[in-house]
Amino acid sequence: MEKNWWKNAVIYQIYPRSFQDSNGDGIGDLNGIIQKLDYLQYLGIDAIWLSPVYQSPNVDNGYDISDYQTIDPEYGTMEDMDRLIDEANKRSIKIIMDLVINHTSSQHFWFQEALKGKDNPYHEYYIWRTSNNSEPPNSLKADSGSAWEYVSELDEYYLHLHSKEQPDLNWKNPEMKQAIWEMINYWLEKGIGGFRLDVIDLIGKEPDELITKNGPELHPLIHELNQQTFGNYNVVTVGETWGATPEIAKLYSKPERNELSMVFQFEHINLDKQAGKRKWDLKELDPQELHQVFSKWQTELQGDGWNSLFWNNHDLPRIISRWGDDSKQYRELSGKMLAIYLYFMSGTPYIYQGEEIGMTNYEISDISEVNDIESRQMYYDRLDKGYPKEEVLQSINTKGRDNARHPMQWDLSKNAGFTTATPWLAVHPNYKSINVETSLANQDSLFFTYKELIELRKNNYDIINGEYQTLNTGNPDVLAYIRYNVNEQIIVVVNFSKQSQQYSLQTNLNHSKCLIHNYNTGIGGSKELQAYEAFAVKVSGNNW
Ligand code: GLC
Ligand code: CA
Repeated sequence: MEKNWWKNAVIYQIYPRSFQDSNGDGIGDLNGIIQKLDYLQYLGIDAIWLSPVYQSPNVDNGYDISDYQTIDPEYGTMEDMDRLIDEANKRSIKIIMDLVINHTSSQHFWFQEALKGKDNPYHEYYIWRTSNNSEPPNSLKADSGSAWEYVSELDEYYLHLHSKEQPDLNWKNPEMKQAIWEMINYWLEKGIGGFRLDVIDLIGKEPDELITKNGPELHPLIHELNQQTFGNYNVVTVGETWGATPEIAKLYSKPERNELSMVFQFEHINLDKQAGKRKWDLKELDPQELHQVFSKWQTELQGDGWNSLFWNNHDLPRIISRWGDDSKQYRELSGKMLAIYLYFMSGTPYIYQGEEIGMTNYEISDISEVNDIESRQMYYDRLDKGYPKEEVLQSINTKGRDNARHPMQWDLSKNAGFTTATPWLAVHPNYKSINVETSLANQDSLFFTYKELIELRKNNYDIINGEYQTLNTGNPDVLAYIRYNVNEQIIVVVNFSKQSQQYSLQTNLNHSKCLIHNYNTGIGGSKELQAYEAFAVKVSGNNW
């Protein structure tokens, strides 16, 4: 296996709870994933990033792990896991595990022991502080209020940057680090393809100085982690780094630093929130701003680090509802536009389950329909603070994490073929028109755009890793860029709006070869784009 295989890979994220139920309990599971491997192979992906399947009380749907080396019975057994790795490998698909090592569940054996007393060997696996005025040690905040939780038996507070059921691990403790390394090596020995490292930019925190992200010891810690574990294997590692700038992303991903293969950075994802506020404080996206952010990352990481390319994950609303248009008329067109825009950039693309068939947001009208802990906490918090209920519900409908977590829509049968029982979270009523079966039956569907884009990337790998430059179109809604090396160029032009748009390019496209286009009309010479029209063309010769 080539060393940097992941640069040329496309990775598919599975949220196991919502992918496919195989035993009729309403919850997706590992055997359900095995049933769908042929489908994923047909799409053309190289690896699956599996959201957590470890034992968990599911306060945060698996991101609160109570045993790293046991599969949660809801998902299956370790034998099922081994079979999944094996069946995936047979299809040249690697399994990437989710590594949640900033915190554990409060039900983890380590934390249960830690609670027993200050002398317990596991006590220092977590972060404790005292305070003599019955106030939290300082003003650090979690989503639900103070990040410090008081334990009266110990007269101490422990740190939790997420919910109080997710206590933060103490990365200054050598025994804790050793235990985590051993656990990681256990998984590597199983032959997995790598790890996605959950909120990894938090592990260097200095809580007394109110530093959470990007602490002073962060990079030495990740380097050490690399040397003790995955650095010894030919695997991919991708860090979830909400606080990364291009400079910071290079620290993580420059090969000679031996930290991670690449990052998930979220600068584009934050463009539709009000500055300095939370994601719930909505603002309209400005396509020009989006283009500037992508262009900045493309240019600054060039040759010096590695990025991921994504619109969606299990924490984000569905991209078509968000920045495309989920009406019947434009859903697939806008989905194709978004995909075409992304897939000729440099980086490793990630597809989130259902993105390839254009699944959309799920509208709720009452908080009882919401499962996600983050949305629920925000709802009660904001109602307390006097926000109007309608506004809070609108924020959830626009940005809530459940939007991504409603079951995968497979076919026209009951519950979209996800389960024969009552699904743990409702199936979207639009499943009769949006599902895999219908998508596969139509060569013009969004699914085939994704399939084609994956193939095009592989066949044009050299250009896609060539230089990047943004192209001026004279129209703020028409975004364009060029990828080029000495002999060839690819030019991508997309209309990011529902209106038809005029544009002009300085380059002549007359002798270009169309690679992909989401309308059936010709492109040569035409200077008007229809709603969400998007194309990529290839130009040979070095006329750039
Ligand atoms: C990451 C995960 C998210 C989880 C959080 C805490 O952001 O993607 O789902 O709630 O970390 O583990
Ligand atoms: Ca099940």
